[in-house]
Amino acid sequence: MSQNNSRAVFTTRFGAIATTVGSAVGLGNIWRFPYEAGVHGGGAFMICYLAFVFLIGVPLLCAEFCMGRGTRSNIFGAYRKLGGPHLARFAGTLGIVASLMILSFYSVVAGWTVEYCLSSLTGGLDFSDTAAGHGQFVSLTTGWRPLLWTAVFLVANFVILISGVTKGIERASNVMMPILFLLLVAFCINSFFLPGFGDGMRFIFAPDFSKITPQVLFGALGQAFFSLSLGIGGMMTYASYFSDKSRLGRTAMTTALLDSAVAILAGVIIFPAVFSFGISPQAGPTLVFEVLPNIFDRLPGGMIWSTLFFLLLFLASLTSTVSMSEISISYFCEEKKMSRTRATVLSSAIALAGGLLCAMSFGVMSDFTIFGMTVFDLFDYVASNFCMPVGGFVCAVFVGWFVDRKFIKDQLTDYEAYRFPLLRPLRFCLRWLCPVAILLIFLNITGIL
Ligand code: PFF
Repeated sequence: MSQNNSRAVFTTRFGAIATTVGSAVGLGNIWRFPYEAGVHGGGAFMICYLAFVFLIGVPLLCAEFCMGRGTRSNIFGAYRKLGGPHLARFAGTLGIVASLMILSFYSVVAGWTVEYCLSSLTGGLDFSDTAAGHGQFVSLTTGWRPLLWTAVFLVANFVILISGVTKGIERASNVMMPILFLLLVAFCINSFFLPGFGDGMRFIFAPDFSKITPQVLFGALGQAFFSLSLGIGGMMTYASYFSDKSRLGRTAMTTALLDSAVAILAGVIIFPAVFSFGISPQAGPTLVFEVLPNIFDRLPGGMIWSTLFFLLLFLASLTSTVSMSEISISYFCEEKKMSRTRATVLSSAIALAGGLLCAMSFGVMSDFTIFGMTVFDLFDYVASNFCMPVGGFVCAVFVGWFVDRKFIKDQLTDYEAYRFPLLRPLRFCLRWLCPVAILLIFLNITGIL
């Protein structure tokens, strides 16, 4: 990134793609996707998720990219410049509040990766059998240690954010992401040799269409939004740092392809193991942390694999939290005229308060529930399943119906430098497909339809 008229800009097209993929690929793919797929019946969920990624996610990525780069503003500023103050207040506030909620619970899970990484390194993990794995998870995620790791993770995030916009993490992610990808491929190959390979693959790839319920559609929609960092201005904010030659359409497609590839790899790793080790696919948020160490335990040099994996997962989480923090930081800096340092302190402090509450959901606050959910589950459910799709709905309707066509065309063709042949289908998706699909799913889940 380089400074340009006081606003940072990613210097290369590769830099823009790498950081966008860095935002998309994270715990959402490796931790959240398998547990959501497990809870929602496997194959049926997978089909819905992929359909939403490509039919709703890619058009919305294009829309957010156009708004962000075209206005070179944070989410609030982008809506204000293109649509006026009322829209900005609604969509901007929704995005900023949701991003801080996500940052809170995400930091807890990222904190678990720190704990698992260090415990693997010191040989402290005992995953000799499934019960031991579960017991270990419980002991590592209750008490005061998760609070500490949540705070440690947020401090790491803070340090990266404060040292300018992400130069270090940009470089690190360019190297680490391909390594993470290779490691996932290696674990996939290992899955092939597990006794539950066939059952696992059937579970995740053979869709039973009768299992597509309103809950499955709702969960898959939320997962598609979460995984692509959509609807709350994450991608809009990053696009505001893209150079004028970023090829937005291609960047959107590359991001969606790589992001879903990582989620599918995670599924191929987790479900054969789930069936091999007799773990319930419906275990929920703890699933991956209970399953993975069982896999490592059976590999030669398991400790090294495990340490490396959790280290890379930690870094993948950082590249995602940097982007979600940037949503509120850019708002505080540009709209509230705070210095970057103050804005970063404020956003980190809010996330820390929320993060500690979420971390305690697995310990002293496990009995404290709202609508039957712990604070951790509530933050995830509200932000991912409500705020993100509602933000996506607003963005699709706004860009599809109200933003000047020429503005969108200029963004997608880099001011006529080349053609963008998919402009019409894109507009159709934004005007009709995305809003109608999101609306139907919401009406369906509330029982109105
Ligand atoms: N897409 C990230 C993941 O899958 O881990 C999570 C995320 C990042 C959500 C940035 C929202 C956001 F703004």
